[in-house]
Amino acid sequence: MVISIMNWKGGVGKTSSTINLGYSLARLGFKVLLIDLDPQENLSNTDKQNKERKHFITDCLQNKDLEIKPYRFKENLDICHMDGKKAYDRALVDLDSDKVDGLFRLGEKLEKGIINKYDFILLDTAPGFNMISRNALLASNYLLVPSELSQDSIDGAMKLQNEVNGVARFNPGLEILGMFIIRPKLRTIYQQSVKEYSDENFKGHMFSTKIRENIRIGESKTIGGAVLEYYPEATSARDYVVLTFEIMERLHEKGRLPGGKKSLDRAKKIEEELFKPVNR
Ligand SMILES: Nc1ncnc2c1ncn2[C@@H]1O[C@H](COP(=O)(O)OP(=O)(O)O)[C@@H](O)[C@H]1O
Ligand SMILES: [Mg+2]
Repeated sequence: MVISIMNWKGGVGKTSSTINLGYSLARLGFKVLLIDLDPQENLSNTDKQNKERKHFITDCLQNKDLEIKPYRFKENLDICHMDGKKAYDRALVDLDSDKVDGLFRLGEKLEKGIINKYDFILLDTAPGFNMISRNALLASNYLLVPSELSQDSIDGAMKLQNEVNGVARFNPGLEILGMFIIRPKLRTIYQQSVKEYSDENFKGHMFSTKIRENIRIGESKTIGGAVLEYYPEATSARDYVVLTFEIMERLHEKGRLPGGKKSLDRAKKIEEELFKPVNR
């Protein structure tokens, strides 16, 4: 199962959601791989374990023959790093020069190589669209769209919908699994009207869980990972766990949750055990 975390706009919680959802899924017993497809390297920089890096996802995008080689990041959680803007641009040039096959390079490499080792492969993407984000779309089964309640962010998500329609003939199975709101502040009338607009335009796609504003998200990234790992009592840690369950349930309804009902029951059991001490 490959899921892209996307929004045309930057700063809306794509990387934070990749790390936190990935960690939550790994903690609930799934095998998870995170791939950094953003030249800003925010996801890669979160990894403080693997300081010596030889394999980068950019090399695999640039070179047709190189296999994807992930690093171990945490228990059940692997990572593929980005090698900065120059490597990203080189990969883009190479993909662009191979117009048709270039669109499928990431998908084919996942498919031929490592896809069966993981329950979830999460792709953290850069804002905007180019050959690398299209590779992500063509490699994915689903999209998750984090969004803030700002007009720009919602417009970014709408542009993404157009992009999805644009690649539909190459990847007819691709679906938007859902949109979720980051940092909701419904007190202002402006945000309320944007909320109505997004509910209207993403009908059936909105998750009910919202990720509240919480400084611990940034702090945890600086330390080296998910908020749930370092501040399990933080509001955002809870929000991401609840969102993870909502995502699992939605996949299960579609008959697409890896491991099906068994893994959902296992996840609930693990969550009960882990949450107990925090509750008391
Ligand atoms: N729920 C949140 N509360 C507070 N800060 C957040 C939250 N989510 C993300 N951030 C912060 O906002 C900034 C942008 O988030 P990030 O996940 O990097 O967005 P993107 O990947 O879409 O550019 C980061 O500094 C991050 O730490
Ligand atoms: Mg990012």
